[in-house]
Amino acid sequence: MGTARNKASRALTSVPVPAASAPKSRATKNLRTAADLAVNGAPPLFTEAVHVGRPNVGNRERFLERTRNILESGWLSNNGPHLLEFERSIADRLGVRNCVAMCNGTIALEIAMRALELHGEVIVPSYTFVATAHALQWQEITPIFADIDPVTQNLDPDSVRRMITPRTTGIVGVHLWGRAAPVAELQAVASERGLRLMFDASHGFGCSLRGKPLGSFGDCEVFSFHATKFFNTFEGGAVVTNDDLLAEKMRLMRNFGFFDYDKVIYTGTNGKMTEISAAMGLTNLESIDNFVAVNRRNYHCYQAEIATIPGLTLLPYDESENNNYQYIVLDVSPDFPVSRDRIIEVLHAEKVLARRYFWPGCHNMEPYRSYYPHAGLVLPNTERVAAQVTVLPSGSAVHAETIHAITSVLRVLASGAV
Ligand SMILES: Cc1ncc(COP(=O)(O)O)c(C=O)c1O
Repeated sequence: MGTARNKASRALTSVPVPAASAPKSRATKNLRTAADLAVNGAPPLFTEAVHVGRPNVGNRERFLERTRNILESGWLSNNGPHLLEFERSIADRLGVRNCVAMCNGTIALEIAMRALELHGEVIVPSYTFVATAHALQWQEITPIFADIDPVTQNLDPDSVRRMITPRTTGIVGVHLWGRAAPVAELQAVASERGLRLMFDASHGFGCSLRGKPLGSFGDCEVFSFHATKFFNTFEGGAVVTNDDLLAEKMRLMRNFGFFDYDKVIYTGTNGKMTEISAAMGLTNLESIDNFVAVNRRNYHCYQAEIATIPGLTLLPYDESENNNYQYIVLDVSPDFPVSRDRIIEVLHAEKVLARRYFWPGCHNMEPYRSYYPHAGLVLPNTERVAAQVTVLPSGSAVHAETIHAITSVLRVLASGAV
């Protein structure tokens, strides 16, 4: 059982990231009846797989020009000019004093947690990518899973309060889907109880809370710039903070504790971002507005379609904020004639690779499942949401035509005729 789950989670995380230059998928038609479904023997709707997302890549010429400069300079890593420019650009954009760029979001989480001196127990949502919990567990800090608000799908501050014990040292909020966690409420809990507060903002680049960019809240915030994220540096991540001392500590930690050429003054690891990643980041920053525009267009198109299908709801983005609209999050009500998992099977047969997210919840993954076999009892909203949510394809390879075709499948399923 455990082995099967491990295999399943490995399979999920090893999904290949297709090249952005792959040909666009074309729907052959829209579906009208159950007989048109590929699961019933009809040809699939798409001739090529439609992925949940494709990497956002900015101006290729600009990237290649930067790559040529890197190769000519011979400065490939270790605080090179692209890295410094990238960190400054990110900090300025977010209005924070410090950006410490890292090789990926997971190492950035680990270094931030260590720099904040988290230990004992730390409260996290279970409904997140497993790296949020693993970053703690990897350092022998115990993740304690709190429940989410069923409407926002973000941490529920009341559940967080209930999980606090004398061993608790911190809270890690997650801005799930780029929608802000309840920052003020979590800050109130942290301040009252003398806890550190950090955010996993892996989904939140380009998003805001009351007009302020995500990245400037709590003691620090962590971004992932993985290829599948709205904004990517191939692999990469960063911790951003207004705390200069914390930033200094993280800079040491990311570089083996080297203070200067041959003086090590701290325990450290290798968390450095390469020049090529920084060059990709600088290039992609120049195209951020285009990435948002494409995602926003797709989100509105899905929204118009899904609003007319009973039993299906799209997680809304607050239009008074900045959003990156990266995730098209579909909630399948128990009243819908077919289950979420059956919807995914039907879509996969049409070559639409919709995915369950963040199923089955960290508390149902190893080692947490063995450590806390009854955790689900105090995580009812996490269990429900994890069983009902699916993420639909978006990004630059998806157009109105693609969305009409995908939603035509959902409409056939809604008719209950399958
Ligand atoms: C919420 C969340 N946290 C952490 C990570 C880990 O980031 P990375 O893949 O850059 O290590 C991811 C994405 O992969 C994520 O979605």
